[in-house]
Amino acid sequence: MKFHILTLFPEMFAGPLSTSIIGRGVESGLLGFELYNIRDYALDRHRTVDDAPYGGGAGMVMKVEPLTACLEEATRNAPGARVLLASPRGTPLTQKMAAELATEREIVVVCGRYEGIDERVRELFSAVEFSIGDYVLTGGELAAMVLVDAVGRLVPGVLGSSESAEDESFSAGLLEYPHYTRPPEFRGLKVPEVLLSGNHKEIARWRRTQALLKTSRIRPSLLETADLTGEDLRVLQELEQGGAR
Ligand code: ADE
Repeated sequence: MKFHILTLFPEMFAGPLSTSIIGRGVESGLLGFELYNIRDYALDRHRTVDDAPYGGGAGMVMKVEPLTACLEEATRNAPGARVLLASPRGTPLTQKMAAELATEREIVVVCGRYEGIDERVRELFSAVEFSIGDYVLTGGELAAMVLVDAVGRLVPGVLGSSESAEDESFSAGLLEYPHYTRPPEFRGLKVPEVLLSGNHKEIARWRRTQALLKTSRIRPSLLETADLTGEDLRVLQELEQGGAR
């Protein structure tokens, strides 16, 4: 899968795209990146990419012409690709959205800066805005990196077999259960006995209960859409009645 990323700060991407799992995905040819510096598409000799907003107010708006020229090149290189726009007012990025995007052959991601980008860019390219959370970043670069990481790791083959995405938080609609590794006791804190028991059925049951417990405490709204069994509902009822294990 190839990501076409439009930014004023391409240098920001060097670390995340060359490190760890995503870096390995690039090396193995499963992931590809093309970075476009929006400033290279400015029309004047000062290479201006922003201007004051019509209607007044603070901040600067990214100009329509350089971004359009840059997007025209990116969409020429990636015909038919979806165009995404990092923005705090976008649709919240979810695991489901990441999994859907991971099936695309190419996507184009625009990183906004300043107060925003000229709205006509979004209209011209039917760009879909996405947000990585209810807070405002100085620009869309970090959001684009989050998207690349969340999507890239779901591209088949990018995760090794020991790094399976099947069992993790959100893939089942719940927060994940707690993890432990050796030693069995550290500073008086013991690993839950059941995990040392070798009883796989009991381990699975404990993990499911812990996932339900964590989700109901930290993100109860996830329970409304999670895929819950009758046994899950019984466990949740028990937890509500104060029977937390
Ligand atoms: N740009 C600035 N803030 C952002 C956010 N929360 N998500 C995506 N892009 C952004």
